[in-house]
Amino acid sequence: MKDRKSIGIGIMGLGVISGQVAKVLQEKATALAEQAGCPLEIKKIKVLPQDLKRPIACQFDPGLFTTDEDEFFSTAGIDIMVEAIGGEHPAFEYHQRALKTGKHVVTSNKEVIAKRGAELFALAQKNNVSVRYEASVGGGIPLISPFLFDLVANKINGIYAIINGTTNYILTRMAKEGADFAEVLKNAQELGYAEANPRDDVEGIDATYKLAILSSLGFHARIRPSDIHHEGISRLSYRDFKYAQELGFAIKLLAIAKQDDKWIEARVHPVLISEDALLAKVDGVYNAVLVEGDLVGNVIFYGRGAGPQPTSSAVIADVVSVAQDILLCSGPRIKWLPLQRAIKPMAEVVTRYYIRMSVADQAGVLTQITRVLGDNQISISACIQKEVDFSTQSAEIVIMTHPSNEAALQKALKEMNTLNVVKEISNFIRVEDL
Ligand code: HSE
Repeated sequence: MKDRKSIGIGIMGLGVISGQVAKVLQEKATALAEQAGCPLEIKKIKVLPQDLKRPIACQFDPGLFTTDEDEFFSTAGIDIMVEAIGGEHPAFEYHQRALKTGKHVVTSNKEVIAKRGAELFALAQKNNVSVRYEASVGGGIPLISPFLFDLVANKINGIYAIINGTTNYILTRMAKEGADFAEVLKNAQELGYAEANPRDDVEGIDATYKLAILSSLGFHARIRPSDIHHEGISRLSYRDFKYAQELGFAIKLLAIAKQDDKWIEARVHPVLISEDALLAKVDGVYNAVLVEGDLVGNVIFYGRGAGPQPTSSAVIADVVSVAQDILLCSGPRIKWLPLQRAIKPMAEVVTRYYIRMSVADQAGVLTQITRVLGDNQISISACIQKEVDFSTQSAEIVIMTHPSNEAALQKALKEMNTLNVVKEISNFIRVEDL
């Protein structure tokens, strides 16, 4: 055991997450020192000029701040760099620089880990330091540690996850209050849930990074964000929520990964799930990750998936854990197997579907539509006429299908679009049976 007066922390950024981390390190200094084995001392905070105008800046000794990255990296006594600036660049370069100079890295940055994790872990190993990223997925919910350690005896067969707090918050308010998309997104930004570029949340990109991390850990393989098909929530309308509810379903943005002997399937998109499923009851900013293991069965991790406080909980847990490793002189705990596995093309994915379309309100329409579906071997499980607009003589119908593969569904949608009686295919949503 090393005898150290303190462990030095350098914080990259004074944004929503890093500011909260710095605040907790100060406010809970005594309790954290007890847990870590010695005091955790902030040595430097690298800021942007605009960060200094934020109210939180007043809480720190101005001597801790620098806007100069060279000064930050040359500050004596930094053992651990905390990075929460997000994005691939310049975070990747900062991680490289820290690791090469023997600093451990703790990050909440899912993009850099999902895209460049393999390179960073190799570099960390070479320099005998750690990269920790518990806060990168699920905010305050412990997920990385369970995947790395507690579930290690299992073959993980599936991961079904609500891992974007912003979109779950938006979908919940749209479903429950009929709230307006743009207004709820603005609230999510004000609450510190959304990414700097909220398009990452809304288009499912953030969830893709997180699924890449979880599935790589769960399947002991290298899953890149580019291996994951993703769709966002912007096509959903209040009518979809209304009809889904009538049919006994909730709509969630789900990140799904499964493996069989042949390949790995990984996708992020809105799904209809039974309103009785546990994941259907996960509302607001809460995240939940359902893991199917061969020994443990189904396990669900649930908690607040975004926001400064829960995320700081995970960042600080990693800082304390690295501090303990430093004091105990234990080596870095790194596991990320570079094994390549075949990824199932989206065209081969099989699910049930919900299709909403606007059609001419006249005789024989359903016959034409069911013929197209039948020709593509898609079997209908239910078909309901929902609304009639007398002014345009059109009707809205919702079709639920039995399982079909995506290629057949896409071909059928294209063919239906060419029918004169079909005015618009308004939406299609995959159904996941959990
Ligand atoms: N924008 C992310 C979310 C933050 O909404 O889940 C947490 O990673």
